[in-house]
Amino acid sequence: MPHRSTDAVVCRRLVGRTAVVTGAGSGIGLAAAHRLAAEGARVVLADIDEAAGRSAAKAVGGLFVATDVTDPYMVEALFDTAYETYGSVDVAFNNAGISPPEDDSILTTGLDAWHRVQEVNLTSVYLCCKAALPYMRRHGRGSIINTASFVARMGAATSQVSYTASKGGVLAMSRELGVQFAREGIRVNALSPGPVDTPLLRELFAADPVAAARRLVHIPLGRFARPEEIAAAVAFLASDDSSFITAAEFLVDGGISGAYVTPV
Ligand SMILES: NC(=O)c1ccc[n+]([C@@H]2O[C@H](COP(=O)([O-])OP(=O)(O)OC[C@H]3O[C@@H](n4cnc5c(N)ncnc54)[C@H](O)[C@@H]3O)[C@@H](O)[C@H]2O)c1
Repeated sequence: MPHRSTDAVVCRRLVGRTAVVTGAGSGIGLAAAHRLAAEGARVVLADIDEAAGRSAAKAVGGLFVATDVTDPYMVEALFDTAYETYGSVDVAFNNAGISPPEDDSILTTGLDAWHRVQEVNLTSVYLCCKAALPYMRRHGRGSIINTASFVARMGAATSQVSYTASKGGVLAMSRELGVQFAREGIRVNALSPGPVDTPLLRELFAADPVAAARRLVHIPLGRFARPEEIAAAVAFLASDDSSFITAAEFLVDGGISGAYVTPV
């Protein structure tokens, strides 16, 4: 069945808003930067990969700030730059993440791999929220969207132990922040994509096609998501259309978390 393209949608829900996107050089972050810009936002793109980040910023007409999201000073500088350049930080899409092959079964995953994944996937979200919140509180408004994953709620025998634990942390932290700052006009949600066809997933599956096929069978929609389909959810959560949604787990997973037996 052909899937609907979101490319042609021209809602302008984010005119006058400033959105910071981490991991904007590739995959979900890149698609989100495109979508947020198309909806009228001023987009500040952050990535550790300077070439990819610069080219993404050029493509969306945004501002690139080279940032390693595990570095507190760089993260502060990122949000300072967004505020100083555009006068507000209205949206923070804290999305950068990694899924390296050395993060595997608990039986084989070493402490270095464990720590690295926790730093990039979880500590970074803490740092980005910590840096964004004071600017949002100043204006009494904001939407924070933290990228978790469907693996925060579902177990897999094809384990990536630190990745899964990091995404569980993102989910719990987002819920807590959503509750804490709700009365200040700041919404915080965790976005949990199912498997998305991005370089991160391709890298993982190129190494093991059998594992890829094994995962695909569990998705009722019968395919991986396109990054644009996740970006559409980001734009919704960023906009006032989601004004009563906070402290939530927003699943965009093709039905995977609801399935017992999938269609053949
Ligand atoms: N692809 C999927 O199937 C899937 C599913 C669920 C959740 N996610 C999550 O979505 C997010 C984006 O994943 P993606 O598939 O678009 O990955 P991707 O590899 O295509 O893009 C990730 C981007 O993050 C950047 N990055 C990595 N480490 C960084 C750091 N320390 N500082 C700044 N930038 C850094 C990379 O350079 C890259 O541009 C991740 O948090 C991932 O865990 C992905």
